[in-house]
Amino acid sequence: MTDVSYPTYLELDALLDLQRPRSTPPHPDELLFIVVHQSSELWFKAILHELDGLVQRMEAGETGFALWHSQRINALTRIVSAQLSSLDTLPPQHFAQFREHLGTSSGSQSAQFRAIEAASGLRESHFLTAIKAHGEPPAIVTRWLDRPTLQALFLDLVIREGTTLEELYTGAAPTPLFFLAESLLEYEQQFAQWRFKHVQLVERVIGPGTGGTGGTLGARYLMKTVDQRFFPALWEVRAKFFGAALPGPAAQG
Ligand code: HEM
Repeated sequence: MTDVSYPTYLELDALLDLQRPRSTPPHPDELLFIVVHQSSELWFKAILHELDGLVQRMEAGETGFALWHSQRINALTRIVSAQLSSLDTLPPQHFAQFREHLGTSSGSQSAQFRAIEAASGLRESHFLTAIKAHGEPPAIVTRWLDRPTLQALFLDLVIREGTTLEELYTGAAPTPLFFLAESLLEYEQQFAQWRFKHVQLVERVIGPGTGGTGGTLGARYLMKTVDQRFFPALWEVRAKFFGAALPGPAAQG
């Protein structure tokens, strides 16, 4: 058996050679900027891997295993959100000193991020426009667009188990499918929290009115993406417990 050590197993020489600030001399804050983006891409890779597992388990009707993947996806999404905070320590005057070196590169060109959105279920026109903003979407994205959304797979599972979405929430005891529904909803929440933290980071670093390197209106564009939903049915089912639209202020609360 060949000798495997920590640096060879993890290919650390190659990995640690990939952080190359473009400013000269290297701006002291550019390394962190690169590391947070690269590590986010690594976590995106792990999330896509788990999404694949989740889809396969849902298709196979294996709710317990699906829940397992979904909980892991939630743990990973929380990590991606948490690391954004480290860039809150990047003051605008420092970013301005190396931003020109990014050229037109922008997170909006992240194929893995778009693949996660496609896998999770975005299909609305805003999203379809965004994925075509930089030419034809890459195969990693179109592959997911051709598959059913997570919500469709979940609702299919509900039918196959001979129940309804409403029954999951009204049954005498919570079932594994109920916990899967709640876990998927938590994924949606975690994802929206990444979006919101990112908008705030953008406002904090470049200001609310500054355009992005990717050619959008910056924070103003990003704010519109925050309320995109992967699981509208899981949000709507909650309203059933509170009747129809309330007539006036007297009935609210
Ligand atoms: C100082 C830090 C950051 C700034 C100033 C920033 C700025 C922006 C801006 C202005 C946009 C809108 C598109 C454009 O016109 O460029 C954007 C999009 C995006 N950024 Fe960032 N970003 C930062 C950090 C990050 C990090 C760490 C990630 C992690 C991968 C990231 C991922 C993304 C993604 C995925 C989008 C597309 C979002 C969408 O279209 O819904 N950004 N960013």
